[in-house]
Amino acid sequence: MKILGIETSCDDTSAAVLEDGKVLSSKVSTQMEHIKFGGIIPEIASRAHQRNILTVIDTALEEANTTLDDIEAVAVTYGPGLIGPLLVGVNTAKAIAYSKKIPLIPVNHIEGHIYANFIDHPDLAPPFVVLVVSGGHTELIHVENYYSYKLIGKTRDDAAGECLDKVSKMMGLGFPGGKIIDEMAAKGEVGFHKFPRAMRNSFDFSFSGLKTAVKVFLENNDPVYLKENINNVAASFLDAVVDSLSTKLIKAAKETGVKTISIAGGVSANRMLRNVLTKKAKKNGLKVCFPSPKYCTDNAAMIAMAGYKKFISEKRHTERESGDDIFFDLSLDAIPNLRLVD
Ligand code: KG4
Ligand code: ZN
Repeated sequence: MKILGIETSCDDTSAAVLEDGKVLSSKVSTQMEHIKFGGIIPEIASRAHQRNILTVIDTALEEANTTLDDIEAVAVTYGPGLIGPLLVGVNTAKAIAYSKKIPLIPVNHIEGHIYANFIDHPDLAPPFVVLVVSGGHTELIHVENYYSYKLIGKTRDDAAGECLDKVSKMMGLGFPGGKIIDEMAAKGEVGFHKFPRAMRNSFDFSFSGLKTAVKVFLENNDPVYLKENINNVAASFLDAVVDSLSTKLIKAAKETGVKTISIAGGVSANRMLRNVLTKKAKKNGLKVCFPSPKYCTDNAAMIAMAGYKKFISEKRHTERESGDDIFFDLSLDAIPNLRLVD
């Protein structure tokens, strides 16, 4: 079964084709228009999605050596995200589903990130604890069963990726900052400076104090000294973020009794986070699962994967011969939540 995935929730216009859960193609067009602003401008993002979406879908179909006539369902990110960018993806997906008379499957963006893990690890199965860590989210989630999620902790202020992006901007390194900090930290010393870790005794996260601590450190030190030690500052700052994320993830695994942990979202591409988690998981007898880096940041393959799993489970439950009538409520006030239980 071939499924087309579409993702436009932020600044990546993305389309992918999966066949029976295997990725045939995955195209991501990242909008460069935002770099000069140091952050995403929603209206610019909407218009860029509109310009790019059809080309990106055509390229994904071409690379998968297929056409829309062979596609049996369309999965699309339905929320959360920026409303204008989401509308471009949802309406394009609706038009394709309507004209081809195929099912349209709405996918929650966070659920998509979690399902990125199933692309490279088909044997991954609940229960497990996943840390969704991106530019907009930092959520510790107990995946008790398929489509059954329990929220263990979340950020009280900035998402981890947002903190990385803002600190990168403060250090004059550019946007988006996560990847830049990742590269610089790899060349620096984590022990150079001890930045604070917040909310040690909670499963919730807080990164705004850390951001301020870096700001104060930058203001209080000589620019020449800072320039010489820029990689060390990046490494020490990233160490504080990674320590906070990894400590709570391991603690959550212990508390829930799961044997597997995983990460998802743009920040899960981070090498220091992966290295530290690999070591801590081994020490604690846990299995650890990472999506491959290209499926960590926003992409449509993860959306198609979540849609595919939903589609086959819906088919099984209803024992339908054909999925033709599996349409979902797509009124805009019905943006699906993850049904996270506090
Ligand atoms: O999942 P994503 O593409 O978009 C959201 O849903 O937010 O995540 C984007 C975030 C940005 O904050 C970016 O700086 C961060 O992921 N990021 C990274 C890395 N690559 C992207 N953070 C740390 N290390 C990386 N290698
Ligand atoms: Zn995302």
